[in-house]
Amino acid sequence: MDKVKFGYDEVDQTDKPEKVNKVFTSVSNKYDLMNDIMSFGLHRLWKKQFLRLCDLGNKNNILDIACGTGDISLEIKKQKNDVQLTCLDPNIEMIEICKQKFLNKGFTDIKYINLGIEEFESEVKYDLASLAFGFRNFSDPLKGLINIFESLELGGQLLLMDFKVPRNKIYSQLFKAYTLNIIPNIGKIVANDKESYKYLGESIQTYYTPEEIRSMCLNVGFEKVKIINLPEDVASIHVAHKI
Ligand SMILES: C[S@@+](CC[C@H](N)C(=O)[O-])C[C@H]1O[C@@H](n2cnc3c(N)ncnc32)[C@H](O)[C@@H]1O
Repeated sequence: MDKVKFGYDEVDQTDKPEKVNKVFTSVSNKYDLMNDIMSFGLHRLWKKQFLRLCDLGNKNNILDIACGTGDISLEIKKQKNDVQLTCLDPNIEMIEICKQKFLNKGFTDIKYINLGIEEFESEVKYDLASLAFGFRNFSDPLKGLINIFESLELGGQLLLMDFKVPRNKIYSQLFKAYTLNIIPNIGKIVANDKESYKYLGESIQTYYTPEEIRSMCLNVGFEKVKIINLPEDVASIHVAHKI
């Protein structure tokens, strides 16, 4: 049985989806608030930059993978009303919040897929796949990337954003202490859930480097894979092309 990382633990690959799902079910109702607190609001700036790089002007059919509570999806639709948007996430509680936000804003033409990307077989081809802060949670990252690659049309792009460990050694130690000690305690105080935030902190520390992600993208067939490190050096964006 293949083992994969679940924070600092090693678990059977087949057990990871359920474990990850439990985490997101547990954090769903405090997810947006916790994001603002944990990142000091910075995630909003990172998402703005991510959306700028999505270059929505010339995209028509978009798959937002790991849509969660819909931060990226909603902004895509607000910026380009006539786009065809599909939101994919295996967690029913997270995707329900996303759905509700769209309904509150009067958007009713969104397609929702309640699956992990590893199970997804696309019937249509997309010109953009967006994936923000989701890749860390995949149980089979290569299978996930292959499915994303298959779901894109020629000329399509993947934009992938996630955390990274800062390059400066001292800053990296401070960031480590923050993710492993402070974040779980904020989780305890704000969401009464230290365990889930312990996983989130550990999953950042045990995650791939941007170069490793770049190699994985190239391995599944993407080309011209560019890495953009965000100013605070704790997150990066990959732009990958299917040519
Ligand atoms: C940290 S949230 C990110 C939500 C949103 N994209 C954002 O930036 O705020 C991660 C999401 O990844 C989803 N997820 C976990 N495993 C996944 C998988 N195998 N395929 C797709 N999404 C997954 C979780 O359910 C969760 O909603």
